[in-house]
Amino acid sequence: MAVSFAVAGFRDLGIALVPEVIFTHLVYNTTPMTMNAKNEDSRCAIRRGEVVSNVSLCREHLRLTIAVEGFPTPVAGQFVHLSPERRGTCVDGENGCCDSLDVGGAMLRRAFSIAGFRAVGRGAEIEVIYRVVGVGTRWMSSLRAGDAVSVLGPQGNAFPIVSDAANALLVAGGVGLPPMLFLSEALRDAGKTTVALCGAQMGDLLAVTIDSTVRLSTTAREATASAVEFAVRGAKVVVSTDDGSLGFKGHVGQALTEFCEANPVAPDDLVVYTCGPERMMEFVAQFCESRGIRCYVCMERAMACGTGMCQSCVVPVRDESDVQGWRYRLCCMDGPVFEAGEVLFSQPF
Ligand SMILES: Cc1cc2nc3c(=O)[nH]c(=O)nc-3n(C[C@H](O)[C@H](O)[C@H](O)COP(=O)(O)OP(=O)(O)OC[C@H]3O[C@@H](n4cnc5c(N)ncnc54)[C@H](O)[C@@H]3O)c2cc1C
Ligand code: FES
Repeated sequence: MAVSFAVAGFRDLGIALVPEVIFTHLVYNTTPMTMNAKNEDSRCAIRRGEVVSNVSLCREHLRLTIAVEGFPTPVAGQFVHLSPERRGTCVDGENGCCDSLDVGGAMLRRAFSIAGFRAVGRGAEIEVIYRVVGVGTRWMSSLRAGDAVSVLGPQGNAFPIVSDAANALLVAGGVGLPPMLFLSEALRDAGKTTVALCGAQMGDLLAVTIDSTVRLSTTAREATASAVEFAVRGAKVVVSTDDGSLGFKGHVGQALTEFCEANPVAPDDLVVYTCGPERMMEFVAQFCESRGIRCYVCMERAMACGTGMCQSCVVPVRDESDVQGWRYRLCCMDGPVFEAGEVLFSQPF
């Protein structure tokens, strides 16, 4: 059941600026997560990060590397919630600061999948790959080495690594690619044979480095080690672009269909993981359901608090025990990874 309220005011909870009555919907009926991350206890911790580098990968994507002391080892699927470090003149004593940010006003945190992680001394370096789409990601694109970033996380649950399946297919559309990089490391360590299908609208929007010495197939029937970031993690790729400017011409769902036809694997020996636009993930979920293949989706619902308080990130999921046959779960706390079959991609009312 969803109930609408007017926004009554703001209070600073030290995590983000959270409206007193959150946005326009308060939604009840969420459940505890089922695919727990190992580091659940450390969720919701805020740490100061320092930018190590912020480099351009293609026309609209950058890779931001942040050094964070005490950051726990994350698992693939988890995300960080980033904001400018609070600064400015303290106006209300011990509760801290006003937010005189140079990003056009106070900014809620923005969520980014962890694309890479490296333990360094007593801390860690985390990598996120992001596409510049608005005020928050424009702020991120302005960051330079040494700048401070407030890092909340690691948040969320993990992609399950399924022990009885030897093969994994990663289906990534656009900015769905970053969590797949981190996942490919976990799959390599678990001894899986992994192929990543990477889709973009056009070649210069693909956030991986193409190795010009390796043949890149223009059909989706064959995967090659042509994307450097996946190749170093032991995964071959099929690249698809909507306009055909790189790799296979077509959307990544068509690439998945063609690849599976050319490289048949027993359904119970394969797991598909997907992240990207919801229409794309819905296609992948239906493809897998019709063939009896296990599939996990990484939902990227817009998030305000990232900590389970504001209820802005709900995902409707099937639930036969509920009178309506479905219920809401929270993308930030119960997800972002869900079993594909349980997600209702269209609003059920
Ligand atoms: C768990 C999770 C992981 C994510 N991982 C990544 C990642 O690895 N790389 C990456 O680039 N982005 C990722 N996103 C999306 C990212 O959070 C948004 O792109 C970002 O918040 C946009 O902030 P902005 O201020 O630049 O844009 P805004 O000014 O807030 O919005 C600009 C435009 O982007 C749209 N938008 C904002 N948030 C989302 C969203 N979550 N999904 C779809 N459209 C959105 C808005 O509707 C608007 O049209 C992730 C989101 C979630 C929830
Ligand atoms: S983002 Fe606030 S509850 Fe999920």
